[in-house]
Amino acid sequence: MADKQLDVLVICGSLRKRSYNAALARTLPALAPPGMALRAAPSFAGLPVYNFDEHQADGIHPIAIAWCDAIRAADAVVIVSPEYNWSIPGGLKNAIDWASRLKEVPFARKPVALQSAATGLLGGSRMQYHLRQSLTSIDALMLGKPEVFVTFSAKKFDEKTLELSDQPTRDMVKLQLESFEKFARRIALKG
Ligand SMILES: Cc1cc2nc3c(=O)[nH]c(=O)nc-3n(C[C@H](O)[C@H](O)[C@H](O)COP(=O)(O)O)c2cc1C
Repeated sequence: MADKQLDVLVICGSLRKRSYNAALARTLPALAPPGMALRAAPSFAGLPVYNFDEHQADGIHPIAIAWCDAIRAADAVVIVSPEYNWSIPGGLKNAIDWASRLKEVPFARKPVALQSAATGLLGGSRMQYHLRQSLTSIDALMLGKPEVFVTFSAKKFDEKTLELSDQPTRDMVKLQLESFEKFARRIALKG
């Protein structure tokens, strides 16, 4: 494990084409340490709102199965998401609700790091604390610090290319990914 690249799944909580969070997620491979290989998670768009009765009748939805398989296969997960109304965007929360219903919950003992970009002053921090709470309830192992909040996101990304142009933000993301690699490897060693 010590010399193997970590397989890190990146989940984006925004479905918007010109999403700042999706742009941040696309930047991660360039900022990650060499010991990490990042790949995008399958989309959860199209997943119906979780309904226990439909779950009982039809089983786990195929979109949820594909999403959960990707999480289970990864060594670690980074979630990059906006904040909606001071909390987790409904689509992402719904996908987590589906994931929590699997017999083998894919987030259990999975190292998870959070990042958020928001146009406001708090950079999605309230969403992150709610996400931390939900994921802890299904036994994910959450990285504490460093935290990544991209505040006033419209000023941090190039208006045309959406490239993350703000150097202090790039440095902060790099620092978090370096810490996250160490955190995830410690967990992998313990099994
Ligand atoms: C439904 C909705 C709710 C929002 N609520 C918040 C909020 O609570 N806090 C915040 O900082 N920004 C909020 N915003 C603004 C988002 O930060 C902004 O739209 C951001 O660009 C969304 O991320 P994205 O670019 O990755 O899609 C909200 C946006 C939407 C569409």
